[in-house]
Amino acid sequence: MIHSIDPGILFLQEEDVIKAGALDMKMTIETVEKTYALLGQGQVINPPKTHIGMPIGSGADWNSFFNSMPCYIGGDVNIGGTKWAAESKKNSAIPGIPYGIDITILSDPETVLPFCILDGTLITAMRTSAVAGVFAKHTAPADTKAVTLVGAGVIGRTMIMAVCESLPQVETIYLSDLDLSKAEGLAAEYKDVYPAEIVPTADAKTAALASQIIITETTARKPFLDQSWVKPGVTVINMGSMEAELDVVTASDVIAVDYWDQIITYETKAAAQLYKAGKLTKDTVVELSDMVLGKWGGRTDPAQVINCSSLGLGALDIMIGYQLFLNAQKMGIGTPLKLWDKPLWE
Ligand SMILES: NC(=O)c1ccc[n+]([C@@H]2O[C@H](COP(=O)([O-])OP(=O)(O)OC[C@H]3O[C@@H](n4cnc5c(N)ncnc54)[C@H](O)[C@@H]3O)[C@@H](O)[C@H]2O)c1
Repeated sequence: MIHSIDPGILFLQEEDVIKAGALDMKMTIETVEKTYALLGQGQVINPPKTHIGMPIGSGADWNSFFNSMPCYIGGDVNIGGTKWAAESKKNSAIPGIPYGIDITILSDPETVLPFCILDGTLITAMRTSAVAGVFAKHTAPADTKAVTLVGAGVIGRTMIMAVCESLPQVETIYLSDLDLSKAEGLAAEYKDVYPAEIVPTADAKTAALASQIIITETTARKPFLDQSWVKPGVTVINMGSMEAELDVVTASDVIAVDYWDQIITYETKAAAQLYKAGKLTKDTVVELSDMVLGKWGGRTDPAQVINCSSLGLGALDIMIGYQLFLNAQKMGIGTPLKLWDKPLWE
């Protein structure tokens, strides 16, 4: 980090972010792993995200929301920043606009000057699935050959990338969605991109029962994955909020979360509901940092069912955003902006 009083800000729109490497899943997974390692080593300040659901009074039944996700990363990174994240249910039905839209700001921790503002939408899509990929890598049953993905939206797309990158042994990815044409579209688009065959299906439960890993990334507003989907020895990974019945989570032998301190603050997450009901405590879950730092030894019995869930960490967006900023600087891309020519008051 260069500590300068230059008020210059590099703005990276989505096209720049792509040129800087945002679609590189290998880099994204490596950065996710590094971030969770730093988190587990106490090198990250990442308070729970602040959530604003709209309209007023809608509670968990929001139509749209804004999340503020500030963080500081220490260690050899030494950078601050925040993601301003948003999702809108209406966007799912409007062509030309994503369901989730995010922007990321990177700041120098010494001068506290912002030095980069970048589109965070693609970073979110990539890092969200990369988190599932890291969960999958650490929890995959030994005989993993098939994975079922439920949800063929933006995160469904990057989930294909994350699964293929994390689990090269996978031969079949079943892809399901309420709107089967979306699954068919992604299957056609990713045909021959990876060695795994992508099979669209309207019958997610049958696919799940033929798979060793089930990953959900839907906008479902009520749970659809019940105990009848879960056979002994599988890993279930829930990236949305209301996908698995609470019973599925409580019946799991191992419950893993991305970051306990944050996930328990988010009322729609199963872990938060179970914690509030006194049915789940921090010492009974495995956190992703534990996996990445090798503090968790894996399944102790091949029949164990593992449930993983994530809420998403602002530190991931900042770490990946910083890497893309460095790449963009080297490549000379982006639009230079500045906060002031000379600050009026100092
Ligand atoms: N954990 C995280 O870090 C994180 C980060 C970003 C997004 N997410 C979550 O990921 C989910 C997907 O986001 P997205 O941007 O891909 O949305 P999207 O609108 O692009 O896609 C969602 C897909 O889910 C499908 N769907 C909805 N209900 C379903 C059901 N019951 N069964 C099968 N398919 C169903 C929809 O048809 C749609 O294709 C959202 O819940 C979002 O909040 C999680």
